[in-house]
Amino acid sequence: MTSKTLHVDLGDRSYPIHIGPDLMTDSELLQTRIRGQQVMIVTNETIAPLYLAKMEQALVGKTVATVVLPDGEKFKNLETLNLVFDALLQQRFNRTVTLVALGGGVVGDMTGFAAACYQRGVDFVQVPTTLLSQVDSSVGGKTGVNHPQGKNMIGAFYQPRSVLIDTNTLRSLPDREFAAGMAEVIKYGLIADADFFAWLEANVSALMARDEDALQHAIAVSCETKAWVVAQDEREGGIRAILNLGHTFGHAIETATQYTSYLHGEAVAVGMLMAMDLSHRMGAVTLDDCQRTQRLIEACGLPTKSPEGMNIDQFMTLMSVDKKVLDGSLRLVLLEKLGKAYVGNEFSADALQDTLGAFCH
Ligand code: NAD
Ligand code: GLY
Repeated sequence: MTSKTLHVDLGDRSYPIHIGPDLMTDSELLQTRIRGQQVMIVTNETIAPLYLAKMEQALVGKTVATVVLPDGEKFKNLETLNLVFDALLQQRFNRTVTLVALGGGVVGDMTGFAAACYQRGVDFVQVPTTLLSQVDSSVGGKTGVNHPQGKNMIGAFYQPRSVLIDTNTLRSLPDREFAAGMAEVIKYGLIADADFFAWLEANVSALMARDEDALQHAIAVSCETKAWVVAQDEREGGIRAILNLGHTFGHAIETATQYTSYLHGEAVAVGMLMAMDLSHRMGAVTLDDCQRTQRLIEACGLPTKSPEGMNIDQFMTLMSVDKKVLDGSLRLVLLEKLGKAYVGNEFSADALQDTLGAFCH
């Protein structure tokens, strides 16, 4: 199978996204976007035994060092970030160093932020290894770490020099993590591309069986849509917010359950159904489209209800502190129709209560 290259158009900070099997070993593809001699691979203890040797091989000829971080969202903090700075300084790496993020969204977000900060900014390359990071977090330049008072609260917009998506890495991804990534893939159909949504419905079995061709297509269309949105609105002053479909509801679920119940993608899956339900109650989106989405989400093995024990009051309290509350009114990503999203506050309090009630047990 041939690989595919897309572009994120951001003027002099534009970069390619390469998608295909075995790209991690394509030394030329990787090295053309690395300007200096020094390279620091940032990865974690789960991914290192699987892919570090391959990555090192692809970097032959460079001066390569590695820092292996502990695995998990709970380590996405300033303390762990410091391990990257410690390693860079220990190697005496200077401003010409390139950081290579080898891992999922946690590694990618932290590596990008380390690159933004080290000696006031050095290059970095994304080599995402989860479906979620391949279709979402590795593209667009949102980088950062969590603070005890909030997720992703410390960070920077900082674009990579390239994104290298080796679809073979998905073979080792646990089923639950794969399904969580599918939620973000479905998101692109819902917000911007009804034809892609229909393609997903027709090909969900192939995707869940991790068919190479189907996966490469789904990842490419997802990245294309993300690149199109980011090119218009890099710093989320407007349209980029549609990428957060279902995320306000999803964040409430994650916070209420202290990140122990649903993975991010699972919470987003439920959140997207809630956003569609609310859109339907307000006279947009047909009931048929809500049901089609529910069937697709179920076919991916994703949840369709909030976790046991969550109630309407909890949702209301947690959603009111969400980042999208502007001037006291809750703004949500809603659908005008399947394939077209917008951000607004034109929904009635009663409709919101009804939606919350419908998704609580
Ligand atoms: P993750 O990085 O925690 O990876 C999930 C698990 O899979 C980890 O245990 C990881 O070690 C393991 N893993 C990764 N690749 C593997 C592989 N190929 N084989 C086997 N195991 C593998 O989670 P994620 O879902 O990739 O990313 C979630 C993070 O992404 C969150 O911190 C979230 O805030 C962030 N995020 C950022 C953006 C953005 O725009 N920057 C967008 C969405 C999410
Ligand atoms: N994941 C949302 C964004 O990149 O804006």
